[in-house]
Amino acid sequence: MLRHLIQPLDFTTEEFEQLFRLADQILENPSAYSDVCKGKLMASLFFEPSTRTRLSFESAMYRLGGQVVGFADAKVSSTAKGESLSDTLRTVENYCDIAAMRHPKEGAALLASKYMTTMPIINAGDGGHQHPTQTLTDLTTIRHYKGHFDHLTIGVCGDLKFGRTIHSLVRAMNRYDGVKFVFISPDELKMPQVFLDELDPQDYTETSNLKEAIKDLDILYMSRVQRERFVSEEEYLRLKDFFILDKEKMALARKDMLVLHPLPRVNEIHPEVDADPRAVYFQQARFGMYIRMALIMFLLGLGGQND
Ligand code: CP
Repeated sequence: MLRHLIQPLDFTTEEFEQLFRLADQILENPSAYSDVCKGKLMASLFFEPSTRTRLSFESAMYRLGGQVVGFADAKVSSTAKGESLSDTLRTVENYCDIAAMRHPKEGAALLASKYMTTMPIINAGDGGHQHPTQTLTDLTTIRHYKGHFDHLTIGVCGDLKFGRTIHSLVRAMNRYDGVKFVFISPDELKMPQVFLDELDPQDYTETSNLKEAIKDLDILYMSRVQRERFVSEEEYLRLKDFFILDKEKMALARKDMLVLHPLPRVNEIHPEVDADPRAVYFQQARFGMYIRMALIMFLLGLGGQND
């Protein structure tokens, strides 16, 4: 059956666990997987800028022995001539076995998936909506360091309005037992009601006080203010440095609290925090490649389904 990954709930928690286990196996013995995708071609379709997602997907495919075609800038595709997204994807399906696509419009990946007959679509970020492979990356990191997901208190800090990584993370983590969320944002960038409605009101609190909230967290998930989604540059400039995580705030946190960030970072984590062993955002970016290797294999029917 043709499967896509458009948002985290497209996969069950059991399927997530299969991916985590497969990623562990790949990490332990990468050479055993170095030609499982031989002869397979991935389309890397990035209509919006990216460093980690695009390069980790492309590295993942090459490390599995497959190959990659695509673009990192919509201006060099026929989108610039007015071609529709559905026509572009129906064309790409003639050439490629799987596609990872980032697009500025919410719902673009879902729309593209409706036209597919053979090619799995992976949503590599659709506007301010969802970013499910970042969530797989985040959960791989949490699982690695904490060993479980249940009963964790997660502080999600920054731009909760436009942060697609946050929307996906909360949706995915809400499936585990006893998880509590602390949403830390300025009033203007609060978690959209549509995502809050998916949660039990007893499972979350909202605040704008990072110094108070940090004391009770198992995980602090920082995020940048998403400049590209603001209508007003003035509003962005007013809000961009609302939270800056520094040594002083880290001193208030638990000794085993983890700091995650999907990256890129702008100012919201001071570089002095990088040396703190609780800051695991660069390790997180590394896990992103291994879990994407597992995801590619899974969607191509090359392993992970019943491991
Ligand atoms: N985390 C993330 O999506 O980073 P990029 O925008 O660099 O891909």
